[in-house]
Amino acid sequence: MQEKAYENNMRTFHAGGALTGIIRVPGDKSISHRALMLSALAIGESKIRGLLEGEDVLSTAAALRAMGADIKRHDDGTWIVHGVGTGGLTQPDQALDMGNSGTSARLLMGLLASHDITVSMTGDASLSSRPMARVTDPLGRMGGEFTTSPGSTLPLMLRGMTPAVPIEYRLPVASAQVKSAILLAGLNTPGITRVIEPVPTRDHSERMLKGFGANIDVRSDADGVRTISLHGPAELQPRDITVPGDPSSAAFFMVAALIVPGSDLIIENVGINATRAGLIGLLQDMGGHIELQNERDVGGEPVADLHVRHSALKAVAVDPAIAPSMIDEFPVFFVAAAMAEGQTVTSGLEELRVKESDRLAMMAKGLQEIGVELQENEDGLVIEGRSGKPFISRGESPIHAALDHRIAMSFAIAGLASKSGVTIDDISPIATSFPNFETLIEQTMTEEVQG
Ligand code: S3P
Repeated sequence: MQEKAYENNMRTFHAGGALTGIIRVPGDKSISHRALMLSALAIGESKIRGLLEGEDVLSTAAALRAMGADIKRHDDGTWIVHGVGTGGLTQPDQALDMGNSGTSARLLMGLLASHDITVSMTGDASLSSRPMARVTDPLGRMGGEFTTSPGSTLPLMLRGMTPAVPIEYRLPVASAQVKSAILLAGLNTPGITRVIEPVPTRDHSERMLKGFGANIDVRSDADGVRTISLHGPAELQPRDITVPGDPSSAAFFMVAALIVPGSDLIIENVGINATRAGLIGLLQDMGGHIELQNERDVGGEPVADLHVRHSALKAVAVDPAIAPSMIDEFPVFFVAAAMAEGQTVTSGLEELRVKESDRLAMMAKGLQEIGVELQENEDGLVIEGRSGKPFISRGESPIHAALDHRIAMSFAIAGLASKSGVTIDDISPIATSFPNFETLIEQTMTEEVQG
């Protein structure tokens, strides 16, 4: 058992021997949000299996319910959604609370920008500090009106426009959330809404829109620039969806098995969509034993079982172009880099500063507190690897997770490869994306760890 250090949400994670066995991680967060949103707009009954029941996705479900969608969970874990039809969401009685979830906030802003309703949106302290201009700018061009808090942040008020105006928009920042917000606004907009992405980002929205019957066309040119055209208004057909395991959650167990000696772990049913799978290839390049087994298709997404074994990792050059395909995995990648032999240089990662926390700053600070030598640059970290030498907590104070689930989980994994444990001040944000994280750690560890 991991030590439950205090009554509150502080936790210490200790080394507990090798990680072994066969596990499954919860459903993909990005796909879960989209499955609920598109089901809520289809006419008829959709069924969703494997939905991530984390707080972020539940925020999306609650918001859609508050606007008229009928969303229920059956005892067998299947979610049943009766949608209202494109453009059919109704004005909620209260402000929509998006909690910690940037995906809920930004994608719903898109969806609602082409509805004739007025909505207030709130979020927690982390979400209320994140930039929203990246969506309010293009959605404003489509006709949505936004009154934001200073710095273009939440809380905000949104007044949608019907009919909205279709736009052609070239993404100034590689963001699947911005792309998806515009496409979702395009669903209830007559004409062709077009998004051009110079750098490909996760394509779950495009795949699922096609699956629900929307008229969507995706082209890539010779330079890899993608043009996505959606013909609106779209009529969506209900669907049965199976959500694959989240590669961003699997990442924590991949890195744990690679850095904890003796580990031999199978993670089943992990999404390996190329727009998300950057970490797997990078860790393999570092000498990580990760074998993809049983590759198959689940609900229109490629999936595999990952067989991961402890490996002596070696630092490699990290191409900044890989960033969008592993954007959420950098915190735990930094932990892997800190355990590798040699210096890892990362750059082009300024987007990490506007995630649930400033992930470059929080990882730099926390890693230094557990004995890692590094340099923090504006757009990346330069990490001196420890060649497998366990982490050693230097300070008295716990690592600050800053309301960021991935910071908390990354340092939990570091704890499994530490000499005397790593303490995290607040692990409650883990519930946003990976509610059974602690249980799975206990399940895979071979030794009992006493506090
Ligand atoms: C997401 C896209 C990414 C990612 C986030 C989920 C999505 O954000 O960091 O956790 O579901 O579209 P950006 O698109 O803003 O990079």
